[in-house]
Amino acid sequence: MRVNLEQAIAKLKRGEVVAIPTETVYGLAADANNEIALQKIYALKERPASNPLIVHIAAKEQVGDWAAEFSPLAQKLAQAFWPGPLTLVLAAKPEVLKIVRAGAPTVALRVPEHAMALQVLKESGLGLAAPSANKSTQLSPTTASHVEHGLGEHIPVLDGGACTVGIESTIVAVEGDEWRLLRLGMIGEAEVATIAGNPAVKNKQAAPSAPGQDLLHYSPVTPIKLFDSKSDLIDFAITQKDCVALMIGEGEIANGKTFNLPNNPHTLAERLYDTLHQMDALNAALLLIEAPPNQTEWLAIKDRLSRASHKTL
Ligand code: TXA
Ligand code: MG
Repeated sequence: MRVNLEQAIAKLKRGEVVAIPTETVYGLAADANNEIALQKIYALKERPASNPLIVHIAAKEQVGDWAAEFSPLAQKLAQAFWPGPLTLVLAAKPEVLKIVRAGAPTVALRVPEHAMALQVLKESGLGLAAPSANKSTQLSPTTASHVEHGLGEHIPVLDGGACTVGIESTIVAVEGDEWRLLRLGMIGEAEVATIAGNPAVKNKQAAPSAPGQDLLHYSPVTPIKLFDSKSDLIDFAITQKDCVALMIGEGEIANGKTFNLPNNPHTLAERLYDTLHQMDALNAALLLIEAPPNQTEWLAIKDRLSRASHKTL
Protein backbone atom coordinates (compact mmCIF):
# COMPACT_ATOMS: atom_id res chain seq x y z
CA MET A 1 0.00 0.00 0.00
CA ARG A 2 1.64 3.24 -1.11
CA VAL A 3 1.51 6.15 1.33
CA ASN A 4 2.60 9.76 0.95
CA LEU A 5 5.00 11.62 3.20
CA GLU A 6 2.35 12.99 5.58
CA GLN A 7 0.70 9.59 5.92
CA ALA A 8 4.06 7.92 6.51
CA ILE A 9 4.96 10.38 9.26
CA ALA A 10 1.53 10.08 10.91
CA LYS A 11 1.74 6.29 10.94
CA LEU A 12 5.27 6.28 12.36
CA LYS A 13 4.23 8.67 15.12
CA ARG A 14 1.30 6.35 15.95
CA GLY A 15 3.69 3.42 16.39
CA GLU A 16 3.02 1.76 13.05
CA VAL A 17 5.65 0.45 10.65
CA VAL A 18 6.28 2.04 7.24
CA ALA A 19 8.76 0.97 4.57
CA ILE A 20 10.90 3.95 3.63
CA PRO A 21 13.46 4.48 0.88
CA THR A 22 17.13 5.03 1.65
CA GLU A 23 20.08 5.27 -0.73
CA THR A 24 21.16 1.68 0.11
CA VAL A 25 17.97 -0.43 0.32
CA TYR A 26 14.40 0.15 1.55
CA GLY A 27 14.07 -0.03 5.33
CA LEU A 28 11.11 -1.23 7.41
CA ALA A 29 10.93 1.73 9.77
CA ALA A 30 9.40 2.22 13.21
CA ASP A 31 9.86 4.61 16.15
CA ALA A 32 13.07 3.44 17.83
CA ASN A 33 11.68 4.50 21.23
CA ASN A 34 8.45 2.52 20.93
CA GLU A 35 8.82 -1.08 22.06
CA ILE A 36 5.52 -2.26 20.60
CA ALA A 37 6.31 -0.68 17.22
CA LEU A 38 9.68 -2.43 17.23
CA GLN A 39 8.08 -5.78 18.00
CA LYS A 40 6.07 -5.34 14.80
CA ILE A 41 9.29 -5.07 12.78
CA TYR A 42 10.63 -8.33 14.21
CA ALA A 43 7.31 -10.09 13.61
CA LEU A 44 6.85 -8.87 10.02
CA LYS A 45 10.41 -9.75 9.06
CA GLU A 46 10.40 -13.02 11.03
CA ARG A 47 13.69 -11.73 12.37
CA PRO A 48 15.42 -13.49 15.28
CA ALA A 49 15.33 -11.38 18.46
CA SER A 50 19.13 -11.74 18.65
CA ASN A 51 19.65 -9.52 15.57
CA PRO A 52 19.74 -5.80 16.47
CA LEU A 53 18.39 -2.90 14.39
CA ILE A 54 20.04 0.19 12.90
CA VAL A 55 18.65 3.49 14.22
CA HIS A 56 18.37 6.13 11.49
CA ILE A 57 18.77 9.73 12.60
CA ALA A 58 18.44 13.06 10.80
CA ALA A 59 21.88 14.45 11.61
CA LYS A 60 25.02 13.71 13.61
CA GLU A 61 23.89 16.21 16.25
CA GLN A 62 21.44 13.49 17.37
CA VAL A 63 24.13 10.91 18.08
CA GLY A 64 24.19 12.05 21.71
CA ASP A 65 20.55 10.98 22.12
CA TRP A 66 21.58 7.37 21.52
CA ALA A 67 25.31 6.89 22.09
CA ALA A 68 27.12 7.09 25.43
CA GLU A 69 30.36 8.03 23.65
CA PHE A 70 30.92 9.91 20.39
CA SER A 71 34.71 9.69 20.25
CA PRO A 72 36.78 12.00 18.03
CA LEU A 73 37.31 9.06 15.65
CA ALA A 74 33.56 8.38 15.40
CA GLN A 75 32.96 12.09 14.85
CA LYS A 76 35.51 12.17 12.03
CA LEU A 77 33.82 9.23 10.30
CA ALA A 78 30.36 10.77 10.73
CA GLN A 79 31.64 14.07 9.38
CA ALA A 80 33.19 12.40 6.33
CA PHE A 81 30.49 9.87 5.42
CA TRP A 82 27.12 11.18 6.68
CA PRO A 83 24.63 11.45 5.21
CA GLY A 84 25.64 8.23 3.51
CA PRO A 85 25.96 4.44 3.51
CA LEU A 86 28.01 4.09 6.70
CA THR A 87 26.59 2.70 9.96
CA LEU A 88 28.49 3.41 13.17
CA VAL A 89 28.18 0.98 16.08
CA LEU A 90 28.84 2.93 19.28
CA ALA A 91 28.47 2.36 23.03
CA ALA A 92 24.75 2.83 23.75
CA LYS A 93 23.15 5.03 26.37
CA PRO A 94 21.50 2.77 28.94
CA GLU A 95 18.03 4.11 28.09
CA VAL A 96 18.18 2.87 24.46
CA LEU A 97 15.57 0.10 24.35
CA LYS A 98 17.05 -3.38 24.65
CA ILE A 99 14.93 -4.60 21.72
CA VAL A 100 16.70 -2.14 19.35
CA ARG A 101 20.13 -3.44 20.26
CA ALA A 102 19.11 -7.04 20.94
CA GLY A 103 20.51 -6.67 24.43
CA ALA A 104 23.97 -5.56 23.23
CA PRO A 105 25.73 -2.67 25.01
CA THR A 106 26.04 -0.88 21.65
CA VAL A 107 23.72 0.90 19.23
CA ALA A 108 24.03 1.13 15.42
CA LEU A 109 23.42 4.62 13.97
CA ARG A 110 23.18 5.97 10.44
CA VAL A 111 22.15 9.21 8.69
CA PRO A 112 20.79 8.08 5.31
CA GLU A 113 21.48 10.05 2.13
CA HIS A 114 18.00 10.09 0.68
CA ALA A 115 15.92 13.28 0.54
CA MET A 116 12.65 11.53 1.47
CA ALA A 117 14.15 9.55 4.32
CA LEU A 118 15.72 12.72 5.71
CA GLN A 119 12.40 14.54 5.40
CA VAL A 120 10.62 11.78 7.35
CA LEU A 121 13.32 11.87 10.03
CA LYS A 122 13.33 15.66 10.33
CA GLU A 123 9.58 16.22 10.21
CA SER A 124 8.69 13.34 12.54
CA GLY A 125 11.48 14.20 14.98
CA LEU A 126 11.86 10.45 15.57
CA GLY A 127 14.84 8.15 15.48
CA LEU A 128 13.75 5.33 13.18
CA ALA A 129 14.87 1.76 13.62
CA ALA A 130 14.89 0.29 10.13
CA PRO A 131 16.23 -3.06 9.03
CA SER A 132 16.01 -3.90 5.33
CA ALA A 133 12.33 -4.26 4.36
CA ASN A 134 12.39 -7.96 3.49
CA LYS A 135 11.78 -11.24 5.30
CA SER A 136 14.84 -12.42 7.21
CA THR A 137 17.41 -14.15 4.94
CA GLN A 138 15.72 -12.99 1.72
CA LEU A 139 16.90 -10.45 -0.83
CA SER A 140 16.84 -6.82 0.24
CA PRO A 141 14.43 -4.52 -1.63
CA THR A 142 15.67 -1.63 -3.75
CA THR A 143 12.25 -0.52 -5.05
CA ALA A 144 8.78 -0.06 -3.52
CA SER A 145 7.52 -3.01 -5.61
CA HIS A 146 10.21 -5.29 -4.17
CA VAL A 147 8.92 -4.43 -0.68
CA GLU A 148 5.32 -5.24 -1.61
CA HIS A 149 6.36 -8.42 -3.33
CA GLY A 150 8.42 -9.61 -0.34
CA LEU A 151 6.31 -8.45 2.62
CA GLY A 152 2.82 -8.13 1.12
CA GLU A 153 0.57 -5.41 -0.29
CA HIS A 154 -0.69 -4.45 3.17
CA ILE A 155 2.68 -2.94 4.17
CA PRO A 156 2.61 0.87 3.91
CA VAL A 157 5.41 1.93 1.54
CA LEU A 158 6.74 5.41 0.88
CA ASP A 159 7.90 5.23 -2.74
CA GLY A 160 11.16 7.11 -3.19
CA GLY A 161 12.23 5.48 -6.45
CA ALA A 162 15.01 2.96 -6.93
CA CYS A 163 17.87 3.02 -4.42
CA THR A 164 21.08 4.37 -5.93
CA VAL A 165 23.73 2.60 -3.83
CA GLY A 166 21.87 -0.69 -4.03
CA ILE A 167 23.49 -2.77 -1.28
CA GLU A 168 23.38 -2.39 2.49
CA SER A 169 25.58 0.09 4.37
CA THR A 170 29.14 -0.54 5.51
CA ILE A 171 29.08 -1.18 9.29
CA VAL A 172 31.96 0.04 11.44
CA ALA A 173 32.21 -0.39 15.22
CA VAL A 174 34.12 2.37 17.00
CA GLU A 175 35.54 2.15 20.51
CA GLY A 176 37.60 5.18 21.45
CA ASP A 177 40.31 5.47 18.80
CA GLU A 178 39.90 1.92 17.45
CA TRP A 179 37.57 0.72 14.73
CA ARG A 180 36.51 -2.60 13.27
CA LEU A 181 34.72 -3.45 10.06
CA LEU A 182 31.57 -5.47 10.83
CA ARG A 183 29.94 -5.52 7.38
CA LEU A 184 31.34 -4.74 3.95
CA GLY A 185 29.57 -2.11 1.87
CA MET A 186 30.24 0.33 -0.93
CA ILE A 187 32.30 2.54 1.38
CA GLY A 188 35.46 0.44 1.40
CA GLU A 189 37.82 -0.39 4.26
CA ALA A 190 40.57 1.73 2.67
CA GLU A 191 38.32 4.81 2.50
CA VAL A 192 37.44 4.43 6.19
CA ALA A 193 41.11 3.90 7.08
CA THR A 194 42.10 7.07 5.21
CA ILE A 195 39.65 9.19 7.20
CA ALA A 196 40.37 7.36 10.48
CA GLY A 197 44.11 7.75 10.05
CA ASN A 198 44.65 4.21 11.34
CA PRO A 199 43.84 0.72 10.05
CA ALA A 200 40.98 -1.46 11.25
CA VAL A 201 41.58 -3.63 14.30
CA LYS A 202 41.24 -7.28 13.32
CA ASN A 203 40.26 -10.29 15.41
CA LYS A 204 40.25 -8.46 18.68
CA GLN A 205 39.13 -10.61 21.60
CA ALA A 206 35.48 -10.10 22.49
CA ALA A 207 35.01 -8.00 19.36
CA PRO A 208 31.44 -6.93 18.75
CA SER A 209 30.00 -8.57 15.70
CA ALA A 210 27.12 -7.72 13.40
CA PRO A 211 24.76 -10.61 13.97
CA GLY A 212 22.46 -11.72 11.19
CA GLN A 213 25.29 -12.00 8.71
CA ASP A 214 25.28 -15.77 8.86
CA LEU A 215 25.63 -17.41 5.49
CA LEU A 216 22.36 -17.99 3.66
CA HIS A 217 21.48 -14.34 3.67
CA TYR A 218 20.44 -11.92 0.98
CA SER A 219 19.10 -14.94 -0.92
CA PRO A 220 16.73 -15.23 -3.81
CA VAL A 221 14.42 -18.25 -3.61
CA THR A 222 16.11 -19.92 -6.60
CA PRO A 223 19.45 -21.58 -5.79
CA ILE A 224 22.58 -19.78 -7.05
CA LYS A 225 25.84 -21.15 -8.36
CA LEU A 226 28.82 -18.80 -8.64
CA PHE A 227 31.53 -19.09 -11.30
CA ASP A 228 34.99 -17.54 -11.28
CA SER A 229 35.21 -17.49 -15.06
CA LYS A 230 32.79 -16.70 -17.89
CA SER A 231 33.83 -19.76 -19.88
CA ASP A 232 33.19 -22.12 -16.93
CA LEU A 233 29.72 -20.60 -16.54
CA ILE A 234 28.94 -20.95 -20.26
CA ASP A 235 30.21 -24.56 -20.34
CA PHE A 236 28.22 -25.48 -17.23
CA ALA A 237 25.04 -23.92 -18.66
CA ILE A 238 25.11 -26.36 -21.59
CA THR A 239 24.72 -29.25 -19.13
CA GLN A 240 21.61 -27.67 -17.53
CA LYS A 241 17.96 -27.87 -18.56
CA ASP A 242 16.57 -24.80 -16.88
CA CYS A 243 18.91 -22.00 -15.90
CA VAL A 244 19.29 -18.22 -16.04
CA ALA A 245 22.63 -16.41 -16.07
CA LEU A 246 24.05 -13.13 -14.78
CA MET A 247 27.27 -12.01 -16.42
CA ILE A 248 29.48 -9.00 -15.79
CA GLY A 249 30.01 -7.11 -19.02
CA GLU A 250 29.51 -9.19 -22.16
CA GLY A 251 28.66 -12.84 -22.70
CA GLU A 252 25.66 -15.12 -22.93
CA ILE A 253 24.63 -18.70 -22.36
CA ALA A 254 23.34 -20.82 -25.22
CA ASN A 255 20.23 -22.27 -23.62
CA GLY A 256 18.67 -19.72 -21.30
CA LYS A 257 18.19 -16.03 -20.61
CA THR A 258 21.30 -14.00 -19.77
CA PHE A 259 21.26 -10.76 -17.77
CA ASN A 260 24.30 -8.53 -18.30
CA LEU A 261 25.41 -5.93 -15.79
CA PRO A 262 28.07 -3.27 -16.34
CA ASN A 263 31.68 -4.00 -15.41
CA ASN A 264 31.71 -1.24 -12.78
CA PRO A 265 31.15 -2.00 -9.09
CA HIS A 266 28.99 1.07 -8.38
CA THR A 267 26.61 0.68 -11.31
CA LEU A 268 26.51 -3.07 -10.81
CA ALA A 269 25.66 -2.68 -7.09
CA GLU A 270 22.89 -0.22 -7.94
CA ARG A 271 21.20 -2.78 -10.19
CA LEU A 272 22.24 -6.04 -8.48
CA TYR A 273 19.23 -6.78 -6.26
CA ASP A 274 16.70 -5.68 -8.87
CA THR A 275 18.37 -8.03 -11.36
CA LEU A 276 18.35 -10.88 -8.82
CA HIS A 277 14.65 -10.16 -8.10
CA GLN A 278 13.94 -10.37 -11.86
CA MET A 279 15.97 -13.56 -12.26
CA ASP A 280 14.18 -15.12 -9.29
CA ALA A 281 10.79 -14.30 -10.81
CA LEU A 282 11.59 -16.51 -13.81
CA ASN A 283 11.27 -19.59 -11.55
CA ALA A 284 14.26 -21.32 -13.13
CA ALA A 285 15.89 -24.31 -11.42
CA LEU A 286 19.23 -22.53 -10.98
CA LEU A 287 20.78 -19.06 -11.28
CA LEU A 288 24.31 -19.08 -12.72
CA ILE A 289 26.26 -16.01 -11.67
CA GLU A 290 29.68 -14.77 -12.74
CA ALA A 291 31.65 -13.82 -9.61
CA PRO A 292 33.24 -10.36 -9.63
CA PRO A 293 37.02 -9.97 -9.81
CA ASN A 294 39.19 -10.20 -6.68
CA GLN A 295 39.74 -6.47 -6.34
CA THR A 296 38.92 -4.39 -3.28
CA GLU A 297 36.22 -2.31 -4.98
CA TRP A 298 34.27 -5.51 -5.68
CA LEU A 299 34.57 -6.99 -2.16
CA ALA A 300 31.11 -5.96 -0.89
CA ILE A 301 29.39 -7.33 -4.00
CA LYS A 302 31.37 -10.56 -3.73
CA ASP A 303 30.36 -10.81 -0.08
CA ARG A 304 26.63 -10.48 -0.89
CA LEU A 305 26.80 -12.94 -3.78
CA SER A 306 28.64 -15.57 -1.78
CA ARG A 307 26.09 -15.28 1.04
CA ALA A 308 23.26 -15.51 -1.49
CA SER A 309 24.79 -18.61 -3.09
CA HIS A 310 25.40 -20.44 0.15
CA LYS A 311 22.34 -22.63 -0.31
CA THR A 312 23.95 -24.43 -3.22
CA LEU A 313 27.52 -24.70 -1.99
O1 TXA B 1 21.92 0.06 4.47
C1 TXA B 1 21.47 -0.41 5.52
O2 TXA B 1 22.18 -0.57 6.52
C2 TXA B 1 19.98 -0.76 5.54
C3 TXA B 1 19.16 0.52 5.42
C4 TXA B 1 17.69 0.30 5.57
O3 TXA B 1 19.65 1.47 6.31
N1 TXA B 1 19.65 -1.48 6.72
C5 TXA B 1 20.04 -2.75 6.94
O4 TXA B 1 19.54 -3.26 8.11
O5 TXA B 1 20.76 -3.37 6.18
P1 TXA B 1 19.61 -4.81 8.49
O6 TXA B 1 18.85 -4.94 9.74
O7 TXA B 1 19.18 -5.63 7.35
O8 TXA B 1 21.12 -5.02 8.82
C6 TXA B 1 21.63 -4.38 9.95
C7 TXA B 1 22.88 -5.08 10.43
C8 TXA B 1 22.61 -6.45 11.00
O9 TXA B 1 23.60 -7.36 10.55
C9 TXA B 1 22.73 -6.21 12.50
O10 TXA B 1 23.15 -7.34 13.17
C10 TXA B 1 23.76 -5.09 12.56
O11 TXA B 1 23.40 -4.27 11.50
N2 TXA B 1 23.66 -4.35 13.82
C11 TXA B 1 22.66 -3.56 14.24
N3 TXA B 1 22.91 -3.10 15.49
C12 TXA B 1 24.11 -3.60 15.85
C13 TXA B 1 24.93 -3.50 17.02
N4 TXA B 1 24.54 -2.81 18.06
N5 TXA B 1 26.09 -4.15 17.02
C14 TXA B 1 26.50 -4.87 15.96
N6 TXA B 1 25.77 -5.01 14.83
C15 TXA B 1 24.59 -4.38 14.78
MG1 MG C 1 18.84 -7.13 6.03
